[in-house]
Amino acid sequence: MSKKLSTESYKGVRDFYPEDQALLNYLCATMRSVVERVGYVEYHASILEPSELYKSKGADNEEIINDQSYTFTDRGGREVTLRPEMTPTVARMVAARRRELGFPLRLYSIPNVFRYERPQRGRLREHWQLNVDLFGSRSAAADAEVIAVAYGLMLAFGARESDFVIKVGSRTHINSIAQDHRLDDAQTKKLLGLLDRKDKISETDFDTGLRELGVNKSVLSPSNVPEDIAKMLQDFGEAGINNILYDPTVVRGFAYYTGTVFEVFDTHPDNNRALFGGGRYDNLTALFDDEALPGVGFGMGDVTIKDFLSVRGLLPPYTPSTQVYLAVVAPELALRAQTLAGALRRAGVNVAVDFGEKKLGDQIKTAGKHKIPWLVVVGEDELASGTFKVKNLETGAEEPVAEADLPAYFKK
Ligand code: HAM
Repeated sequence: MSKKLSTESYKGVRDFYPEDQALLNYLCATMRSVVERVGYVEYHASILEPSELYKSKGADNEEIINDQSYTFTDRGGREVTLRPEMTPTVARMVAARRRELGFPLRLYSIPNVFRYERPQRGRLREHWQLNVDLFGSRSAAADAEVIAVAYGLMLAFGARESDFVIKVGSRTHINSIAQDHRLDDAQTKKLLGLLDRKDKISETDFDTGLRELGVNKSVLSPSNVPEDIAKMLQDFGEAGINNILYDPTVVRGFAYYTGTVFEVFDTHPDNNRALFGGGRYDNLTALFDDEALPGVGFGMGDVTIKDFLSVRGLLPPYTPSTQVYLAVVAPELALRAQTLAGALRRAGVNVAVDFGEKKLGDQIKTAGKHKIPWLVVVGEDELASGTFKVKNLETGAEEPVAEADLPAYFKK
């Protein structure tokens, strides 16, 4: 006999069995409802992009392109990449139709993205990522709106203000520090990299890095808040939002950010890390077009938010889309069970029908494995009398219900 294939999925990606898929659907539905409420509309694109999209200027040193991309050559000799993020794609799409699209333009999408990372808690090789982006405004109010959407998402998932903080940083501020210290491009990049890795390296290494660049640590004091950010934080405070803070060391990894950047952090001691983030990128569309179009947005991954919710018991219990299971006492009755199911379905009830090949007890077990809440027994007697035994599979309670009353029974 030949060696059997492994049933394991490819390393770092997930299979979504119905319960997993239901959870992903819940996450996506919550995301959609929050962002649509603020006027963001959905777009979509292919997973495949020409590799050059990620190799453009500014991107050459980035780990995500060099070490983490899934890139291959297609049959026509073109270099193709599975998108590691959505921002270059949305920038491309907006640049392509900039004359027709109306600005400010609010867009969202929930793509799956691929990064060749070492799989670990919160990091996989494929994840789903809500992307919320606002194009065509340089106003600080646009930055504030996007941050408010991130805040609103957290509350919609059931988080309290004390469960998370949003740390806001400023690339503009870091660039001016670089200018004041006469850092060249390479040194500025070093400074950004150092700040981005701050939480992953020791304080001594961080201090040494700063000293090598000749940057005094005091210029990175959180009390030295840039004016525009101070104003934003004050507005948030007046709106009753108090967990948004300035943190000069938040810079984020991508080279395309140009202004405000932010990162949402979990405050739970067992899950104390960044959940998601984003920022302003005013020059990305210039890759396609001479006129740059400003953008600001963020990406929120499904893996990190799921960990956050799970640690706090905020994940909803699974309920399958199937509401009712028809157990069929004998195979000959299967057709008549289908007729009954048809009537229920027309009334808007989701019904699955057994084929009557197994004993009633086994059919009940099957319905239980599927976590279907209701079971109806279809036997000769029930069909003759028009009254059916309805079993609540959660409580085990049983009740006779007339056929005509069944749809209403399951809809209550
Ligand atoms: P990012 O920080 O690379 O930003 O990713 C955004 C979020 O996606 C992360 O904070 C995290 O929640 C999730 N994520 C990233 N990598 C992984 C992974 N390997 N496994 C699981 N989750 C992951 C961006 O991608 C920017 N393009 C976001 C953006 C949109 N900026 C402006 N608009």
